[in-house]
Amino acid sequence: MTTSDVSPAAVGGGTCPVSHRAASFNPFVEPYLSDPYSFLAGVRAEEPVFYSPEIDYYVVTKFDDVRMVFRDPRTFSAEIALEPLTPLFPSSIQKVIDVGYVPGPVLVNEDGPIHMKRRKAIGEKFETQRVEALEPRIRAIVTEYLDKFVTTGSADLIDDFVWEIPALVIFMFMGVPDEEAPLVKQFAARRTLFTWGRPTEDEQNKLVDEVGVYWNYCKAHVGRLLEKPGDDFMSDVIRVHQEDPELIDETYLYNTMLNFLFAGHETTTGASGNGFRALLENRDAWAQLCADPSLIPNAVEELLRYSSSVIAWRRRAKAATTIGEVDIPEGANVLLVTGSGNHDEAKFEDGEKLDIHRDNAYQHLAFGFGTHMCLGAPLARLEMRIILEELTRRLPHIRLVEGQEFQYSPNTSFRGPAHVLVEWDPEANPVPTDRP
Ligand code: HEM
Repeated sequence: MTTSDVSPAAVGGGTCPVSHRAASFNPFVEPYLSDPYSFLAGVRAEEPVFYSPEIDYYVVTKFDDVRMVFRDPRTFSAEIALEPLTPLFPSSIQKVIDVGYVPGPVLVNEDGPIHMKRRKAIGEKFETQRVEALEPRIRAIVTEYLDKFVTTGSADLIDDFVWEIPALVIFMFMGVPDEEAPLVKQFAARRTLFTWGRPTEDEQNKLVDEVGVYWNYCKAHVGRLLEKPGDDFMSDVIRVHQEDPELIDETYLYNTMLNFLFAGHETTTGASGNGFRALLENRDAWAQLCADPSLIPNAVEELLRYSSSVIAWRRRAKAATTIGEVDIPEGANVLLVTGSGNHDEAKFEDGEKLDIHRDNAYQHLAFGFGTHMCLGAPLARLEMRIILEELTRRLPHIRLVEGQEFQYSPNTSFRGPAHVLVEWDPEANPVPTDRP
């Protein structure tokens, strides 16, 4: 870096040299939103850890550095995971108080032994058999959605297909009645902007109101299950609370409800959307999956690596330290660009290319790493596999509508196209009963 590349920026009351590249980093606008990977390839080569004045975060982009941070929970706390990236305006703080929302701890933002204890207790209820047992129900939901558009010749694979499927699955898992699903789905989309976006004061005020409604819904739902537990996962977490109310109190239950509902579907909708786009833009890979569905499980890993729906996650430094060659002050915010680590040539050969046969694809960072690694990963993988199995079987001849522009929500962390428009000749559908 030369001195002419550097301009000073205020950091924690002092000044810090910021390169033009770092100064140009703005994850909320184009061209980054449409194509983060070109920018990230450049920084990995030239300035893999940099301070961004736009968001007041140290941005970490290499695979080894991201994984090192995930592996060191003592130095890098998860406490920041759910803090709104845009600090709350005083008017919003007042609203949080008014709506009675208590943003307490939950698995994803707690540290130390208490996190491990609660993760063990809750994780035991998220057992493999419970997830595997969902396969026929998930396939039935996927089939029902495909049936609605298979004869039409055109569809939006988000709105018509994967917008609702992961939501219905997680709601079933959490014991939410079917008729309440659309309401809950709506809340979650707004939560992304509240926590990871750049809302104005007005927008943030409205978002707090909506989070308040969501919070009250979660309280009411937990209240119902406390009185009459079912055979769903949330009811089992409630049983843990009843056995050990000190480990998991009622506020923890409400936050668990709110966060699992969120974590469980926006992510999987985005991952499926990214997957459709990547495969249909790499026609050869799509054709191979249609011809041989046994390739789908590894393709799912490669899609998560190549175009993850969680492109960045956060930590806070609890002590002064270094990442790569950059000094990180105590208290600094750290943005781990997992999507960049997933493209790092030092880890993945030809990292910018989709290769459904890649033998180390599963080592991606899309689900995080270490003590907080995504608890829902087996469920997400199962859903993505079934979605791809059914789509390749019934509509192998779909193609992307030419000239469409893919749009992404303006936030640091969650990435998936708002729409994926496809078309096909329904007369050529391979399953005879799928023809008009
Ligand atoms: C493709 C879909 C998904 C992606 C990309 C994803 C990604 C992530 C990431 C990056 C983390 C943070 C890891 C860390 O801090 O080290 C995480 C944590 C978590 N995820 Fe997921 N997730 C997905 C689906 C799901 C689903 C379906 C569920 C629930 C059913 C879920 C529940 C959780 C929970 C509970 C945590 C917190 C675990 C802990 O802190 O101990 N996720 N996920």
